[in-house]
Amino acid sequence: MTNRLSSELEQMRRATEGALEAAVDTPVKTVAAPGRVNLIGEHTDYNDGFVLPVAIDRWVVMSGRRRPGREVVAHALDRQERALFSLDELDPSLARNLPDWARYVAGTLWSLELEGLRLGGMELAFTGSVPQGMGLSSSAALEVATGFLALRIHGLELPRLRLAQVGQRAENQYVGVNCGIMDQFASALGAAGRALLLDCRSLEYRLLPVPQGIAFFVVHPPQGRTLAGSGYNRRRQECEAAARLLAGERPGIRALRDATADDLKVLASRAGERYEDHEVANLYRRARHVVEENSRVLALARAMEEDDFAAVGRLVSQSHGSLRDLFEVSTPAFDRWVERLAGLPGCLGARMVGGGFGGSILAVVRREEAELFRRAAASLDEGGEAVRLFPCRPVDGVGEVGRGSENR
Ligand code: GLA
Repeated sequence: MTNRLSSELEQMRRATEGALEAAVDTPVKTVAAPGRVNLIGEHTDYNDGFVLPVAIDRWVVMSGRRRPGREVVAHALDRQERALFSLDELDPSLARNLPDWARYVAGTLWSLELEGLRLGGMELAFTGSVPQGMGLSSSAALEVATGFLALRIHGLELPRLRLAQVGQRAENQYVGVNCGIMDQFASALGAAGRALLLDCRSLEYRLLPVPQGIAFFVVHPPQGRTLAGSGYNRRRQECEAAARLLAGERPGIRALRDATADDLKVLASRAGERYEDHEVANLYRRARHVVEENSRVLALARAMEEDDFAAVGRLVSQSHGSLRDLFEVSTPAFDRWVERLAGLPGCLGARMVGGGFGGSILAVVRREEAELFRRAAASLDEGGEAVRLFPCRPVDGVGEVGRGSENR
């Protein structure tokens, strides 16, 4: 761990601990949960498919301590807002009474109690360095930080995979976003220097070393904020409809994970029809993306193991092409930026990451040319507005941050 990072985390720890009410004689704990970039496997998680994310060195840092009773006070330092709620009144139907950010906190505590864990009152304060609304999983990091901290300050234990599922349930059932498991999984189970190859059906995973010769950059084009939400849920419905249609033809298909090239031909042959409230032509394109993206995930994992950087870059760029043409979650502005970045020195491949409709671009770069790439990319602009970018590296999943701690 570099000094820059430990001092960044240390600064955030001081800020969040400093925001808690003084003079209460209960121990304070602080945790950091990372955001993520997904190398490949976009919109495959909720189709029971494969993903390959890395947890990155951007965190939500949260401090907290017990309070008597069942009330929770939460401070969002960056917004200078505070929310107060009772653990006894956490029904999802009450979520809309809370500020947006507090729904993730309250939802996670609600979801934790559904595990049969009984929590007490708490005071919480958080800040963070994960850019918000940029497809880097700031919400999953907030959920995982909340869950992990609540467990720590109550002396409770839960396996990390379960913690990820607690966060996902909070987002699905409390916040109302029908996300898959990838983001919470990466934030909870990330590993330094490793990417996580996750089978979203069995939830089995492997840690794959990221080759030394590769560096990652996150790029934020001007006006890149993601407008996901309804578009995301609609894509999920389309995938589920495609799986239902195929299951009618070939029983045994539970999700698009099970579809084959022959199943795609069936969809293609019915392209002129409608199914439920969808055009089958659309369902064909969505299904084809998922089927091909799943094989790209496995191919990219192999390419990393073989240090085949050219293949890594090619697969990353193909993933973008498919998100653009088949899954249709990119934007023309993003497509232009992906192309510009891909043409820069050292760039092996680039693509949009996360739910889509904006957000961030991941550029995979040869490490020896990373500085050349950074300078070239930083000089790009659009209408006078500069692109923003930062290098990122794979880090461990959620953990405690102690005074002078070196554990991240
Ligand atoms: C969002 C969701 C994830 C995943 C991606 C798309 O980040 O939270 O579960 O579906 O979009 O791959």
